[in-house]
Amino acid sequence: MSTTTSTSGPTGATTVNSGAPAGRVIQGRATVVVGLQWGDEGKGKIVHYLTPLHDAVVRYNGGANAGHSVVVGGERFALHLIPSGILHKGKRAIIGNGVVVDPAWLIGEIDKLTARGVDMSNLRISSRAHVVMPWHKDEDDLRERLLRVESAVVTGDGKGGEPIGTTKRGIGPCYADKHQRATAVRMGELLDEASLRSKVRMIAKIKTATLGALFDALPVSERPEARPAYDAETVLKSCVEWAKRLGAMVGDTSAELLRMVEEGKSILLEGANATLLDVDHGTFPFVTSSSTVALGAPTGSGIPMQSIGRVLGIMKAYSTRVGGGPMATELIATEADRALAHHIRERGREYGTTTGRPRRVGWLDLPAVRYAVRLNGVTEVAVMLLDVLEGMQQIRVCTGYTIDGRPAEFEPDAGWMSRATPEFATLEGFSGEVSKARTLSELPKEARAYISLIERHVGAKVAIVSVGPDKDQTIRVDG
Ligand code: GDP
Ligand code: IMO
Ligand code: MG
Repeated sequence: MSTTTSTSGPTGATTVNSGAPAGRVIQGRATVVVGLQWGDEGKGKIVHYLTPLHDAVVRYNGGANAGHSVVVGGERFALHLIPSGILHKGKRAIIGNGVVVDPAWLIGEIDKLTARGVDMSNLRISSRAHVVMPWHKDEDDLRERLLRVESAVVTGDGKGGEPIGTTKRGIGPCYADKHQRATAVRMGELLDEASLRSKVRMIAKIKTATLGALFDALPVSERPEARPAYDAETVLKSCVEWAKRLGAMVGDTSAELLRMVEEGKSILLEGANATLLDVDHGTFPFVTSSSTVALGAPTGSGIPMQSIGRVLGIMKAYSTRVGGGPMATELIATEADRALAHHIRERGREYGTTTGRPRRVGWLDLPAVRYAVRLNGVTEVAVMLLDVLEGMQQIRVCTGYTIDGRPAEFEPDAGWMSRATPEFATLEGFSGEVSKARTLSELPKEARAYISLIERHVGAKVAIVSVGPDKDQTIRVDG
């Protein structure tokens, strides 16, 4: 039997010592849910669906750039920073150390969910998660303006001129400060006002100078209203308010999770953003700034990698992307393509959960998904939004790429993508009441053929087919 003791750590946060023998790790009880495309694959729905089988749900990366929609009994919830598992009472919901937390946004999210009757008593925030400060959002905005104005060559293919198209939630600048170290603020530090004061003074000075210079570099017509200037006392006041509201939830969540792993509890790790947006393995530089892939889950939560036994890859039956960057299968070239994209966008409600931007729409890119399956070590795949394709006469799908007439494996690189030519197969469409199917055999045979094609090309078993936003609109393949 293990005993548990609690002590107060250097930041005032609670640390937990499980008393378990060092090095004892129960293997393979944790599951990672990870997006296999450019985000918005339906991770929120699947996390909500799987939460009852787990003891804790953990966000390990990203921040309020994520928007995970969950539909419960016809009611729609949008989660940005809070794990989607929060909608199940009694499950631990953890914002892990790999997340960047905008405290004002989080408080707003907590208040909105509380007003709708969601219980927040199980929410915990890592003391090591980084704080998105006001200057991070300002810098995100200023840099995007500059990229647009300067026609900066960011793509590597000599074209340039495109901003990244960020969500302007301060994600990139906050992760940059995490890696810069001295100018970063962690959630635990919010709890110690005295030492925070001198730090915020120092950072405010640096940010006023550096962001002021970015502002000055913009033509007058492109500048935001005011030149950024940070008054340390004003910022501190916000920090004190945030600490008051969130302080009791902040602690050493890595220690708690480690203890849960050692006790054989089952943890669900909810990836945000997606594989092709990963800072190392995505379509750089049109990516986000965190480790979005399953490889990021242990480091972003603090559990050993051997504790992960299952990696569930989430993919749409087609492709979408928000923001800039290459997308070989995008339906954009002709009037007919754009009409088709519009049709899919409307049927699939393809508008950003976070920014409301219309999502770019394209056919399924199987080589890109295959790449994501291999990289993440995906053990099973969930194919989402199959119902959206219902009623189309034909469905096209990218089955391979060539460069100079030779077959080429997908490479997540903007330069490579500009040289590669996608090859398409055309399949018969399907019709019928797809959204009412609850078993594979209830799907039209053309839809089943589509699922088989996906399975063959991506190299992983399709375990779940989703035919609508509601939890019930889910097909478990082979039980
Ligand atoms: P996430 O970021 O991966 O959690 O995905 P989002 O929530 O941003 O976007 C997925 C959208 O598709 C949401 O509006 C979901 O409610 C919806 N959705 C999920 N699964 C299905 C499905 O099988 N069919 C349909 N029609 N909508 C779905
Ligand atoms: P979920 O978790 C879709 C995209 C942005 C932009 C790029 C960088 O809902 O799937 P950032 O603000 O992170 O610096 O933006 O990444 N992006 C997403 N696109 N879904 C997301 O999250 C995204 N998170 C970031 O649109 O192109
Ligand atoms: Mg989303």
